Amino acid sequence: MNERETLKINADGHLEIGGADAVKLAEEFGTPLYVFDEKHIRDMMRVYKRAVDVEYGGNGLVLYASKAFSCEAVYAIAKSENIGVDVVSGGELYTAIKAGFPTDKIYMHGNNKLVRELELALANGVGCIVVDSYKEADILDELAAARGVKQRVLIRTNPGVEAHTHEFIQTARTDSKFGFSISDGAAEQITKHVLSKNNLVLRGYHCHIGSQIFEKSSFALAAEKVMDFIALMKEKLGFEVAELNIGGGFGVWYNDDDPKLRLTDYYGYVKTLIAAVKSKAKEHNISKPYLLLEPGRSIIGEAGVTLYTVGAIKDIPGIKKYVAVDGGMFDNPRYALYQSKYTVLLANRANEECTEKVSIAGKCCESGDLIAVNVPLPAANSGDILAVLTTGAYNYSMASNYNRNFIPAAVLVTEGKAEYIIRPQTYEDLVRNDVLPDRLK
Ligand code: LLP
Repeated sequence: MNERETLKINADGHLEIGGADAVKLAEEFGTPLYVFDEKHIRDMMRVYKRAVDVEYGGNGLVLYASKAFSCEAVYAIAKSENIGVDVVSGGELYTAIKAGFPTDKIYMHGNNKLVRELELALANGVGCIVVDSYKEADILDELAAARGVKQRVLIRTNPGVEAHTHEFIQTARTDSKFGFSISDGAAEQITKHVLSKNNLVLRGYHCHIGSQIFEKSSFALAAEKVMDFIALMKEKLGFEVAELNIGGGFGVWYNDDDPKLRLTDYYGYVKTLIAAVKSKAKEHNISKPYLLLEPGRSIIGEAGVTLYTVGAIKDIPGIKKYVAVDGGMFDNPRYALYQSKYTVLLANRANEECTEKVSIAGKCCESGDLIAVNVPLPAANSGDILAVLTTGAYNYSMASNYNRNFIPAAVLVTEGKAEYIIRPQTYEDLVRNDVLPDRLK
């Protein structure tokens, strides 16, 4: 397996992303700019697919969790890699459809899907909808009846596995807005309810234990718990499960507190998970379910870098040095939300030694608008190009127009050449939906 070589420093001492000089990208496309390395994305999609093919005889499907980064190009890449996608809103679904993604390979999630989102899914033949409430099951059954279709569904369970990650991105504790708990009988009750619906075809179960998780044992434990539950449902209700969706959550490297995983390590996660599923199937004498995985961050996170231009520098002697950039929490809210850590470097002086610790500030009118705090950097000057690494996942997808700043453009780099996959916004875009009533003119 080839190792991923997204980042390099070239002979000019500049950072290279997927073979493209970051300084030239900044010149050509402007900053702030999201840059994605296509090879990295494809390598990650392939390693997951290969693991399912080799370790599980291809009896499954990898779904790219598109909440990590959704735009037409990424669905087109997933399509060409023959994998599926998961979507969590009408907007993601619409984008996938617009990109020509085969809808039978789309799984739809959400703890509170709107009627119009369910309608869009049914109208377009979405492969599977992951039911997360009684109300949703009832509405979906009615909508399917009205269309004369039988909709395939999974039930989202909560296996009660604690994974070591930031509190807000843990999703499978008992106190969670997601899923039906296995331990208190809620998952069994909703199973009976969904099985009673004439227009829903219950295929099995889904679980997702959280995000940015490195412990293999957490994934295996969740798979084991759901497999035990599957055996119990067969015994109690005679319900034979066809599919198990084990969610996503594999971690990525942000800074040196995190392990830097290789392709073989991600393969190993899937292998461990599959071993747990196989051994439970054997133990309970049940058939091995069709297996779905939903990695998002690990496919796209390290494939992305954000480029900024350094502007104001404020040194408060003995306290802090702020290096301000032309972006901020509107293109990356993850420090503000989760105190997430990032690695930063000067793309135009990538070989230079770090001589100080600085905080990277954004341009929003808010003190909490920071990208990184106390990170090592050479003494920066206005005009330097600052690169923030591992911004491919949950940056563009969580961006906003706060302070009416532009959400940056995104480019995809392939063999050193970059092209837009998301165009830059304009002032006109910002006022497009504004309405000025006559009486206010
Ligand atoms: N499947 C389900 C049902 C999920 O809820 C998620 C993520 C995934 C798959 C993909 O997980 P991944 O492989 O990307 O870890 N905004 C947060 C992350 C929220 C994750 C939500 N669910 C962040 O910036 O860290």
